[in-house]
Amino acid sequence: MNTRTRFSLRVAVGATALALLAAGCGTTTNEAEGGGDASVEEGFNVGLLLPESQTARYERFDKPYFEEALQELCENCELTYQNADQETAKQQDQAEAMLTEGIDVMVLDAVDTEAAASIVANAQSQDVPVVAYDRLAQGGVDYYVSFDNETVGQVQGEALLEALEEEGTLDDGEIVAIHGSPTDPNADQFKSGAMGVLEGNVDIAAEYDTPGWSAERAQEQMEGAITSHGAEDIEGVYSANDGMAAGIVAALKSAGVDEMPPITGQDAEVAGIQRIIAGEQYMTVYKEIRAEAEVAADMAVAAATGQEYDGGDEYTPTEVEDADGETVNAVLLDPVSVTADNVEDTIIADGFYTVDEICTEDYADTDFCEEVAGEQ
Ligand code: BGC
Repeated sequence: MNTRTRFSLRVAVGATALALLAAGCGTTTNEAEGGGDASVEEGFNVGLLLPESQTARYERFDKPYFEEALQELCENCELTYQNADQETAKQQDQAEAMLTEGIDVMVLDAVDTEAAASIVANAQSQDVPVVAYDRLAQGGVDYYVSFDNETVGQVQGEALLEALEEEGTLDDGEIVAIHGSPTDPNADQFKSGAMGVLEGNVDIAAEYDTPGWSAERAQEQMEGAITSHGAEDIEGVYSANDGMAAGIVAALKSAGVDEMPPITGQDAEVAGIQRIIAGEQYMTVYKEIRAEAEVAADMAVAAATGQEYDGGDEYTPTEVEDADGETVNAVLLDPVSVTADNVEDTIIADGFYTVDEICTEDYADTDFCEEVAGEQ
């Protein structure tokens, strides 16, 4: 669906945004060389391109949070939004259409980081700066915001080892590792962080990459691992995200397993949290997407208006290198590991979900829901 959002126009709010900037909320400072010449008072066009809609985060959090953050900074700005549904060519077309229509800055979460280099080149040839969102697109983008993705992988690997130790199965079994999409640079970082922790500490029966981060593909891969290694010998599963963990649980269930081995995840999807409280998934990684979207909006406003993003009071930008060796100013946020023990202190405390969203009828008799119901 072509979702085009127009922020309320003709409200004299440039001043509010400028006041926010002056108060250090907007985190723009010096004039950057060669930056855009759009102005917050007049407003400008921002293009947001997200990669897929199978993973819940994009439509549920990334897009609305970005929209809110942009409106806070620039009430006269207009957002054009597209989701590529995991299709590289579709994202290419969406980007081209946005550039033709006329945007002043592009915020890009690439389906395929290498292919995205041509989107970046195209934008920059039209003086449209690019903020890489969550995944570092190649081609020398202007800014990048994400989480520390190597740490995401480490946190997942450490949690899996901890669970195997708790269950006393660390030394006698094997694990299966199911990684994300090979065209997503984050997937490589999750893998390297996780495998750095797991390798040498546990036997790895099988390892797979999963094109498109597809839950169905993850399920098929898990079925293949079960056929080759036997469900009873698989003591744990490293899954790079919650969507794929759903497929992995389905494969184990259809092989007759009713007590799940420890399985990892990422994204703190409602379904992931529900599996955690029901004992079907060991952990997930909670990423504070609101902060990511806010930084992206700050970077986009800075880039479009020819200012330099400096992180303000809250963030210290760092430098990262993209796959072409280009240096990019980046903000990398910290991920948080979530198990049944800290759902309340993280997910609930942060207002990411309400108790009611998690404790639906099917989960009402879990320990977690009974305890929180007792507290209310
Ligand atoms: C994101 C994850 C997400 C995955 C699949 C990664 O680039 O960082 O949060 O689960 O893509 O969309």
